[in-house]
Amino acid sequence: MTAQSDDGIGRVIAIALQKGGVGKTTTTINLAAELARLDMRVLVIDIDQQAHSTSGLGITVGPDDPTAFEVLTDERNQRVPLLEAIQKTEFGVDIVPAALALRQLEKGGLGPGGQLRLAKQLDDLTGYDVIFIDCPPALGALTEAAMAAADDVLAVLEAGPDEVDALVRLGSAVADVQEGLNEALEIRYVLLADYEGNTKTAQNVRAGLLQDWGAWSAGGAYLGEIPHTVRVREAKDKRVPIAVHAPTCSAAVAYRDAAVLLAERIRA
Ligand SMILES: Nc1ncnc2c1ncn2[C@@H]1O[C@H](COP(=O)(O)OP(=O)(O)OP(=O)(O)O)[C@@H](O)[C@H]1O
Ligand SMILES: [Mg+2]
Repeated sequence: MTAQSDDGIGRVIAIALQKGGVGKTTTTINLAAELARLDMRVLVIDIDQQAHSTSGLGITVGPDDPTAFEVLTDERNQRVPLLEAIQKTEFGVDIVPAALALRQLEKGGLGPGGQLRLAKQLDDLTGYDVIFIDCPPALGALTEAAMAAADDVLAVLEAGPDEVDALVRLGSAVADVQEGLNEALEIRYVLLADYEGNTKTAQNVRAGLLQDWGAWSAGGAYLGEIPHTVRVREAKDKRVPIAVHAPTCSAAVAYRDAAVLLAERIRA
């Protein structure tokens, strides 16, 4: 994959951390919606059986709709299942929805060659500037397939010591993927979701991330912190991006700023 180019082959970004409930899906939905508002063509691929990106972008999957499950299990290794699975949301973002069946793949693996199936299908997909893959909270077969297909990893964290440990372990997983599946993969972006800056611990975590990731010259980027606000949960329950539910709230502004940074980086 290459950066945004005339042929429309987009940057593929896996949104990952093997810890649950840290804000991966919230970030996927809201960065996607904000990048679409910046006139970028955005596809979300939801590979988490919980299907929260799918529901959060207002999509209800019908019984006959192909999903990420079909994409990850199709042995033709062509673009067909991916193209067939894409649906349009109301928010200027396209999505390959998730299905509960993905659970089987997380448990049983993807079979021979399966790890590269998504990568192969994405390889010549045109028409998008950014493709986000919302990963489940595990470093299993599905996250590995996403990392095999991605150009970059965006690590989403809460500001606690467990999440910092998880970031270190994510780094090791990326190193493993670099060896066998995807040499160019790097954690290139970090974002603090659901930030409550009133504890010393949270402030220290933020300061550490700024130190390690704030220097854009190193090729990475700290995309900022999203303040904790009840508006985010309300938006999730309404199944709309925060910019639709509460466009002036602190989290909406922070996601907008993060999207501007990311768009600059992608377009550079
Ligand atoms: N800035 C925020 N303010 C308030 N609540 C938030 C914020 N960010 C995320 N949340 C809430 O935290 C919960 C977990 O978020 P989310 O589903 O995005 O995490 P996740 O990492 O995708 O979880 P999983 O690992 O289960 O996929 C959700 O209820 C979400 O609404
Ligand atoms: Mg999630």
